[in-house]
Amino acid sequence: MKILKVGICGWGNVATGLFRAVNENAEAIKLNSGANFSIEVIGARRDNPECDPGKTLIERDIFALLDHDIDVVVELIGGVEVARELILKAIKNKKHVVTANKAVIYHHGDEIFQSARDHGVRVLFESSVCAGTPIIKLLKEELAANKVSKISGMLNGTSNFILSNMEEGEDFDATLRLAQEEGYAEPDPTFDIEGMDAAHKIGILSSLAFGTALPPLDFHIEGITKIDKSDFHYAMDMGYTIKHLAVAKIDNGMVELRAHPALINLNSHLANLKGVRNGMEIDTDLIGKIHIAGSGAGQESTASGLISDLVHLYFSVDVDTSSAANNKINPPMSDFSELFFQYYFYIEALDIPGVMASITSLLASRKVGIESIVQKEELSRESVPIILITDPFKEADHSLLCKELLNLDSVRAIRSIRIEAE
Ligand code: HSE
Repeated sequence: MKILKVGICGWGNVATGLFRAVNENAEAIKLNSGANFSIEVIGARRDNPECDPGKTLIERDIFALLDHDIDVVVELIGGVEVARELILKAIKNKKHVVTANKAVIYHHGDEIFQSARDHGVRVLFESSVCAGTPIIKLLKEELAANKVSKISGMLNGTSNFILSNMEEGEDFDATLRLAQEEGYAEPDPTFDIEGMDAAHKIGILSSLAFGTALPPLDFHIEGITKIDKSDFHYAMDMGYTIKHLAVAKIDNGMVELRAHPALINLNSHLANLKGVRNGMEIDTDLIGKIHIAGSGAGQESTASGLISDLVHLYFSVDVDTSSAANNKINPPMSDFSELFFQYYFYIEALDIPGVMASITSLLASRKVGIESIVQKEELSRESVPIILITDPFKEADHSLLCKELLNLDSVRAIRSIRIEAE
């Protein structure tokens, strides 16, 4: 192929970042990869004062882009339903697709990939997970010889930014505002702080590593809104910090998918990734643990991932994809309530004799072992924090235990966070 003809659909932050990077880094792209592509047309409903497209053709009707003589449509309109329609139409028109849209891949990936196989085109989505930090092609190609058993890490930059700042004593709300100002957070930040964004990303990685469905059939998703900054202080005293972890794991042929806050060892690789960075740990059979970290959000990082897909397409566009394997095996999913976790509990209790005994005898009656239990310095004249680390117990028993602890006369409030096994 002499030149890959590209149409960009969407003209927001990500699209203009791609346009700029393609133009400004044209020499580097050619030198590094030998690929040669040109942006032929942009589907933009309106102008963007941040970027002058020069002489590039503009289509106001984004679907009209598909009538142009282009090899690939870069879908950057965001959202789910219109993006799905555009991608499926592009595929039917025999255009390859590159997208950074994690939500559309998470919700409609299986349908989109099947259609691409049926029409002999490729759909690439490197930037949909961790922006330009390489993970999709790494899993699909570079690690193809390996059996992956676990992928875990921080896949939402905003949550990692907020938690890292809380670790330093900052408040949740102020840090979230900062993340919004810096442009890390999603337009609706509840997607970041309630765990959906990380869930989208680990769902996509699990489909690549384990053949789970898109959308996944089962998922446990929790965000970071219930964490208090004092939890960091207590966790650190015991050699842990708190991260929002997204985990996909296969065990005896059963896949578990979960995204939730977790205590992790302070000395671990993931614990030391602060700020907006994303980081992943991948357990493989042939090369052991692999660590990847990088910027997982922002215009430039996303442009880097999109360009890597274009380079990849440049060299593979003429490859016959009709025999491409459908790696969907839809393995059975673990029932989250049947999994075992160790737990950290913060228990705010009255400072009266017998309070420890009432807590420990409740745990004993529920057959939950205690790894450690410490009474900390008083919060006020009447109440003290008690920090409890349990032995592993079944997730199904957790909410009942929380309820029963709260029912104790001496207990005023509790919080609990899972501890991620190493
Ligand atoms: N809001 C996302 C994050 C951006 O904070 O990681 C990239 O998906």
